Amino acid sequence: MQLSFSTVIATLAAVFAVAAPAAAQSCSEATRFGVVTVSPTTLSPGDTFTVTANFTCAVQFGVNPQYTDYYIEVPVNNNGYEPPILLARRTLNASSPTPLFDQFTTQLPYASYFNASYVVMLDTTYPVTGTNGSPYSVVGGIETPINIL
Ligand SMILES: *[C@@H]1O[C@H](CO)[C@@H](O)[C@H](O)[C@H]1NC(C)=O
Ligand SMILES: *[C@@H]1O[C@H](CO)[C@@H](O)[C@H](O)[C@H]1NC(C)=O
Ligand SMILES: *[C@@H]1O[C@H](CO)[C@@H](O)[C@H](O)[C@H]1NC(C)=O
Repeated sequence: MQLSFSTVIATLAAVFAVAAPAAAQSCSEATRFGVVTVSPTTLSPGDTFTVTANFTCAVQFGVNPQYTDYYIEVPVNNNGYEPPILLARRTLNASSPTPLFDQFTTQLPYASYFNASYVVMLDTTYPVTGTNGSPYSVVGGIETPINIL
């Protein structure tokens, strides 16, 4: 079961990799790991917000997500007291070979926030094909800014 699923994913990845040059014209390179959006984008601790990831372009780059991890991060000028805060760790529906959307609602954790440039970071884990044809997984990241008051 595990092996055959991996083989299917690897085959699909190869198909999409071949298809990528033509399809990529309507999808910018920046969308290769998915497009993540947050609503609303201005938040205070305890506020409820919705996170949506769209992998329509990602699959055209051969990126078929297996797992999606979402963090609140300060990627630039981090003062050292701003570790990534995990929002959600999700497994995409493995029965659906190319899941195009991932969406969830959560609350902004009651962490100590600073006057810094926060983002919601999506880490997309996806399979690629090794030099001997066997699949292994790699991770790519994409972010979207949020304001924390
Ligand atoms: C997902 O992304 C594709 C490609 O950019 C776009 O055409 C589509 O409208 C998006 N879907 C949603 C629900 O935002
Ligand atoms: C996963 O996707 C398959 C095929 O689209 C669907 O039949 C199944 O109900 C989905 N499972 C879950 C848990 O969403
Ligand atoms: C937050 O940082 C910005 C940019 O460094 C600065 O202009 C602003 O005055 C700061 N606000 C507070 C409340 O410290």
